[in-house]
Amino acid sequence: MTDATAILQGLRARPKTLPTALLYDALGSALFEAITELPEYGLTRADLRLIDAHAADAVRALGGPLDVVELGPGGGRKAALFLPAVTARQPSTVFTAIDVSASALRECRHALEGIDTVEVRCVEATYLDGLRRAPRVPGARRLVLFLGSNLSNFDRRDALAFLRDVRAALLPGDALLLATDLEKPAAALLPAYDDALGVTAAFNRNVLVRLNREWGADFRLPDFAHEARWNAPERRIEMHLVAQRACEVHLRGEVLTFAAGESIWTESSHRFRADELRAWADESGFACIQQWTDPAWPFAHSLFQAR
Ligand code: AVI
Repeated sequence: MTDATAILQGLRARPKTLPTALLYDALGSALFEAITELPEYGLTRADLRLIDAHAADAVRALGGPLDVVELGPGGGRKAALFLPAVTARQPSTVFTAIDVSASALRECRHALEGIDTVEVRCVEATYLDGLRRAPRVPGARRLVLFLGSNLSNFDRRDALAFLRDVRAALLPGDALLLATDLEKPAAALLPAYDDALGVTAAFNRNVLVRLNREWGADFRLPDFAHEARWNAPERRIEMHLVAQRACEVHLRGEVLTFAAGESIWTESSHRFRADELRAWADESGFACIQQWTDPAWPFAHSLFQAR
């Protein structure tokens, strides 16, 4: 759990920030699932189209048997679509889901109940911790799925460091299937983070509800509006909560002052280029052996194999 010190540190900083992980309490996770259904949010549909079109190619390229691990499986929808490509080629499969959210793991297990040759193991942990702890299946090559463009929410430098850490937790011949959203015009991207129904706004503002409930803060919700910004030099969408008037907020005995228009930066969502991802494979100890892109909503699946 995020502690009050980290929260206060972020709210005292300039610009004010909050840990992105705070967005995902039970309500935040449910709102994120709703986001994936929005007409403006093309990422998830592109991800699912690529799994549908190319999961079998990825599995064939690796050869088997495979032991499959997914980092951040959400409700298990992507795994349910991916795993038949594996089960078609081997009599039994171990699938390990790693997530910090117990409710996500429960949903994932439920989503995979119908595939009877798959043994589902759930590890409640951070990605790397879980990956290092997940027991290997003797004689199998490990395939790690990191889908949903979850890498977008890392700072670019942290993203590369993360890929190196994933590589260090694998053996030569193991693989990582990395799904990432690609660059596209801001006019296509901004509505995905500021949808007409206001679901993303609710997802963002819910962090204040959470601070009030869990840390005893007194944010007035009407004082803060959701804003999505495109930061062109950094190639990322930023989500902010912008104070609509000058105000004070109390949290754990501290008084936090907000000028009118001042924001709390809650999330960054980076875009990538297909060639930069291939270069990152080399820089992190992998080789990018295949890459597929979705033409309708530029999005990439990159298959990295550990050297
Ligand atoms: C989880 N992650 C990849 C989402 C994204 O698109 O960056 C989180 C999200 N934030 C707002 N909408 C969706």
